Amino acid sequence: MKLSIVILAAGHGTRMHSKLPKILHPLAGVPMIERIVNAAKKLDPQQVCVVYGPNLETHREKLQYLNVNWVLQKEQLGTGHAVLQALPQIPDDHQVLVLYGDIPLISATSLNNLLSDLDETKVGLLVTSLEDPTGFGRIIRGRKNNITAIVEEKDASSKQKQIKEINTGIITASAHQLKKWLPELKNTNAQHEYYLTDIIEKAVNEGIAIHGVPASYNEEVQGVNNLYQLGKLERFYQYQQAEKLMRQGVMIMDPTRFDLRGKLQTGYDVVIDINVVFEGNVAIGNNCKIAPNVILRNVTIGNNVIIKANSVIEDSIIADNSFVGPFARLRPGTQVGENAEIGNFVEIKKSVIGEGTKAHHVGYLGDANIGKNVNVGAGTITCNYDGAKKHITTIEDNSFIGSGTELVAPVTVEKNSYVGAGSTITENTPAGKLTVARERQTTIENWAPPEKAVKEKN
Ligand code: UD1
Ligand code: CA
Repeated sequence: MKLSIVILAAGHGTRMHSKLPKILHPLAGVPMIERIVNAAKKLDPQQVCVVYGPNLETHREKLQYLNVNWVLQKEQLGTGHAVLQALPQIPDDHQVLVLYGDIPLISATSLNNLLSDLDETKVGLLVTSLEDPTGFGRIIRGRKNNITAIVEEKDASSKQKQIKEINTGIITASAHQLKKWLPELKNTNAQHEYYLTDIIEKAVNEGIAIHGVPASYNEEVQGVNNLYQLGKLERFYQYQQAEKLMRQGVMIMDPTRFDLRGKLQTGYDVVIDINVVFEGNVAIGNNCKIAPNVILRNVTIGNNVIIKANSVIEDSIIADNSFVGPFARLRPGTQVGENAEIGNFVEIKKSVIGEGTKAHHVGYLGDANIGKNVNVGAGTITCNYDGAKKHITTIEDNSFIGSGTELVAPVTVEKNSYVGAGSTITENTPAGKLTVARERQTTIENWAPPEKAVKEKN
């Protein structure tokens, strides 16, 4: 079966109350439209068309990566009219599957169920039953329980409104049937729209069987009209992700306070405390602990590592047996070696921290190559920027940087050397020596505090 998938995404999304078009709002870090396109592509279609409205035009450039055919629907005249816009792109012998740009959690499994054993003469619908079906098109069934029509809420009689079985909106029919039916649609209904759902009656009139296939669970066919609905689906999805990881042996202290906006790979005995946010690609080795309120974005962590509370780490690599934090900030390009210790209020950018090196308290290490077993004292700062260019600081193995040192790059602290506390180092320090670069302490004799002016009372 040749398959063309049409994703309807031209609606205004007014109820989002946002300048960002609805389908670009992210769920677990991924724009809704990208999720749907991904699910669609799992079905191996010949093409994916996205029907979009004029408000998306300015965003299309950055959506090129989706690799879909864009079809403009200038005016939003209804779901039937929207599908009609895509039909010229679709050969007659294709099966057409219609998805919505605002149903983000649709699964390829249900779509496969819907498409399985369909042929030329059948029309398929993904349906579900809702306790509160308000707002949805209702499934009308005939005597033999066969589907005969879909009636929109606004066109439904009070008796039809009692029906709990609804149209999820996901429909499939052959291109050649749609090419016949869609141009015949009329907009003589409560909303003056061309309803895609009216093809059901047309099919039934031609003696074509309508397959109502139930969705696996309601959340996967839940549409998003406002940020509250999006938030609820986000929580549902995050809980599902947490559950999957917990079943694989990850200890998540509270699955309701877990956020994975990307991919997470874990070894055994990984403990994830509350409010940890994972973004991009994160890999964690064996026997690691991630403390509360940590953000990890594109981070690779080895074995036996502890990331202490409130640390923010991005585009970094952390090797075995080390710890980072609390309150550490590792910016892109940071590599922390084995057995290294990065403590509180330490910021590191584009730097290599050697094996066994310690930077326990407060400081900024930027564009630095730091060797093995170095002790970086409290308040050490690499002055890496001269106002125009960035420069490298090198600290060789086994050196000791006294507290409150400023290292004015480019500069090298040679191996086994000591730098006295409070130094401003502007030139290379020789190996195996103590270098001190600060004023000698002096005490002023015969000094007296300034006299305070005596206030006159009046
Ligand atoms: C539609 C269905 C209804 C179903 C419900 C499920 C019709 C007539 N009704 O109703 O049976 O229960 O979805 O959520 O199909 N869109 C366009 N162009 C348009 C109009 C809509 O691209 O001209 C897109 C929207 O962006 C959205 C989707 O189509 O992604 C559904 O449109 P919407 O107006 O939300 O349809 P409903 O009234 O909810
Ligand atoms: Ca809707």
